[in-house]
Amino acid sequence: MGDLKLIYDEKTIRNRVKELARRILRDYADEKPIVCICVLRGAFMFFSDIVKELKSENIILDFIRLSSYGSETSSSGKVKMITGLTEAVEGKHVLIIEDIVDTGYTLQYLHSYFKDKKASDVKVACLLDKPMTRMVSVKADYIAFTLDKPAFIVGYGLDCDQLYRNLNGLYLLEE
Ligand code: IMP
Ligand code: MG
Repeated sequence: MGDLKLIYDEKTIRNRVKELARRILRDYADEKPIVCICVLRGAFMFFSDIVKELKSENIILDFIRLSSYGSETSSSGKVKMITGLTEAVEGKHVLIIEDIVDTGYTLQYLHSYFKDKKASDVKVACLLDKPMTRMVSVKADYIAFTLDKPAFIVGYGLDCDQLYRNLNGLYLLEE
């Protein structure tokens, strides 16, 4: 078990989430519903905080569950859908709310999934971007924080072997 080092506290995260939500609402100017997709389990806290700040009556929430990691701290590159969509997204805006964009395999998979479902357009909001470990070329539209060196992060929904998801800040897990 490693040591935890706080990198972003609850207040810093809250302020950043509010900023992102303001930008998101400004960018969706039409009347089409926005289907916000929570990518379980890692994104649950970020999702919950950001949708509370999307002060609009045109928001639909849905949840999908993916698995790509197993119990290791490096990506397998194989994305598996465990639970799919419930809501129809055809002709609607889709906003994927993800925890981390690391290798990019998950986002690549989700882009093709929502294209098949005929979403009118697909955007991505992510809590953490890890651009230096990208294997495929994908980019989030809204990024709360960017890591400038390889690191494994836990807390605020993110786990290591299912632990630490409940912590209210983001922590660097030091080996
Ligand atoms: P991908 O490599 O971009 O497909 O990301 C796969 C998933 O791995 C992310 O959505 C996270 O759930 C998880 N992941 C990647 N890096 C970390 C990390 O530092 N901590 C916790 N989970 C991570
Ligand atoms: Mg994830």
